[in-house]
Amino acid sequence: MRILVGITGGIAAFKAAEIVREFTELGHDVRVVPTPNALRFIGAATLEALSHNPVASELYSDVADVRHIELAQWAEAILVAPATASFLARTAAGVADDLLGNVILATAAPILIAPAMHSEMWTNKATSSNVALLRSRGLRVIEPGVGRLTGGDSGVGRLPEADQLVRETLAIAVPKDLAGKKVLIIAGGTREFIDPVRYIGNRSSGKQGIALVEEATARGATVTLIAANFRYDSSEVVVESVQTTADLLNALEEIGFGFDVIVMPAAVSDFKPESVSNSKIKKSGSSTLDLHLIENPDVISMIARSAKAINSGSVIVGFAAETASGGNLEALGQEKMTRKGLDLIVANDVSNGVAFDVDDNAVSIIGPKKVFNFSGSKAQIAKTIFDSINKLDSLS
Ligand code: CTP
Repeated sequence: MRILVGITGGIAAFKAAEIVREFTELGHDVRVVPTPNALRFIGAATLEALSHNPVASELYSDVADVRHIELAQWAEAILVAPATASFLARTAAGVADDLLGNVILATAAPILIAPAMHSEMWTNKATSSNVALLRSRGLRVIEPGVGRLTGGDSGVGRLPEADQLVRETLAIAVPKDLAGKKVLIIAGGTREFIDPVRYIGNRSSGKQGIALVEEATARGATVTLIAANFRYDSSEVVVESVQTTADLLNALEEIGFGFDVIVMPAAVSDFKPESVSNSKIKKSGSSTLDLHLIENPDVISMIARSAKAINSGSVIVGFAAETASGGNLEALGQEKMTRKGLDLIVANDVSNGVAFDVDDNAVSIIGPKKVFNFSGSKAQIAKTIFDSINKLDSLS
């Protein structure tokens, strides 16, 4: 993992040496950006020796390299430890007057901030509201520990232990392992029209698809989304909106099958009316209405064949919605995976409609030989699916 460690000017800065050493000993690539004040407490030479990389602090050295952007894009996670009250205030205000401040403003990497200061400064209302603002913007600010402080007094404000900070940083890091890869996500639920106002539909909300799009984008992929009956706007993602299964097939014809990874949580209507009435169907006086339904093609089986014909290394991931649990769920999922020619299938129990339009789910990620059970938010499930794609060999 590529970890950037920011250090600001507090006495706990000397503890950053331990943090940097732990990251490098675990095999991670570390770049250190101290503020100029941090260098009053810890030497650049120490940080260079421990990180095995040059240490930059100044915004105006090596300007031609556009260092702040290079570092901001390089990092897969950023830890600022220790973070002073002044750093929290500057970051909350968006001030970028040193290299670290510029990197923080320019990065898309997840950021963990570990404040350390005297209790009075930590509990000051200015600091509390800066912390609340940073958290509301998605930066993680962890609570300082309680114990001995520099002046000989005790209280809240200590920098947490290095191993805790290392663990928490690695937990939020997003690897850029999909950089240069083309990923297609097909999500939502198709609708099959009966007449101009009525359709056969299903309860899929598209939430799992959005989580997959966001995870793949964060990991550096070029992402295309086919969205069946939900909205998703993003300047980074190509979005094709479709309603029916026929629209979905047309969209696929247009964009083709040249993708490295295709994940399809979409709920596709298995059947559609044989003919669609051009006008609204009126009550006929009889108490029943007969709809004659015909089967839709199995889209993902066709995708698997076409994508693998172009690139045999492409990975195709389907979903299986089953009203079954435990071993039965796994057996049904495995059978579906083989029948449809998939590399992985994500099976979930949809008894009583539990998985629809909610933020959490429980799934079994089924590979050819191994099954991995996981429950959590749809964002965590998306992360686990891409992690499983990386470890396909161990699921085979
Ligand atoms: N799927 C598809 N085309 C269809 C039906 C399903 O591409 N006509 C895809 C879904 O997007 C999903 C996978 O196949 O990735 C399994 O969907 P699921 O509804 O669980 O299975 P079905 O094939 O519909 O089988 P059944 O309804 O008999 O369980």
